[in-house]
Amino acid sequence: MFIEIQNIKKSYGEGRSCVQVLDGISTQIERGAMCVILGPSGSGKSTLLNIIGGLDTVDSGSIRIDSREITSLSPEILSDYRRDTLGFVFQFYNLIPNLTVKENIEVCRYLSPSPLDVYELLEILGLTEHQDKFPAQLSGGQQQRCSLARALIKNPKLLLCDEPTGALDSKTAKDMLKLLEEINERYGTTMLIVTHNDAISAMVHKVIKIRDGQIVEVYENEKRISAEALEW
Ligand SMILES: Nc1ncnc2c1ncn2[C@@H]1O[C@H](COP(=O)(O)OP(=O)(O)OP(=O)(O)O)[C@@H](O)[C@H]1O
Ligand SMILES: [Mg+2]
Repeated sequence: MFIEIQNIKKSYGEGRSCVQVLDGISTQIERGAMCVILGPSGSGKSTLLNIIGGLDTVDSGSIRIDSREITSLSPEILSDYRRDTLGFVFQFYNLIPNLTVKENIEVCRYLSPSPLDVYELLEILGLTEHQDKFPAQLSGGQQQRCSLARALIKNPKLLLCDEPTGALDSKTAKDMLKLLEEINERYGTTMLIVTHNDAISAMVHKVIKIRDGQIVEVYENEKRISAEALEW
């Protein structure tokens, strides 16, 4: 198993204002799988993703990624883990405003000993003609693709996406999902995709539904449909 999560708990605040955000989450995800985490607003999806991404800590429980326990790592080793293993696509892009598209992607290239080819990635993501533009000159969908390129240039083993289609219209959202599908097939990247959009479930290998910090349903799709064929 590539990801093994055992009974993780996380709360914020203390005493009477304490909120139990994750309340005993356990699950496993195979290497190379695309997995969706679904749940209503406030159910703990981003908290779970941030914990798996080493950006937040657990109160208890265990997380093994590629056979390595990450909950007990020192800050330095945790930052190595993020650099060496992860790509993160945030909901609000986080592009560097005074760098061009190509430069935004290239800053992350140097973090990896075996990066992908920047021109290949620009081409796959439909950004070749936009490579010399600045983020402010791009549409939302183009910015989202640029932030995906930035996460992918390192050729990460694990790609974490928080609402990658949340801010996009349905046509652009589908294009984004087709890209994730192509990347998964081409590079075997394991993907965890947080979303509100139930329709995305049909194209992934595994679906995890959470509510109030607990898993309420898990299933694997025996037959997936392509991103192209999704309907919503
Ligand atoms: N740093 C924090 N301090 C206190 N409470 C927090 C913090 N981060 C998240 N929470 C609370 O934890 C709960 C889960 O938040 P989280 O962001 O994980 O939800 P979500 O499922 O991603 O929601 P959305 O779909 O709206 O993005 C919410 O009730 C939120 O208010
Ligand atoms: Mg969230």
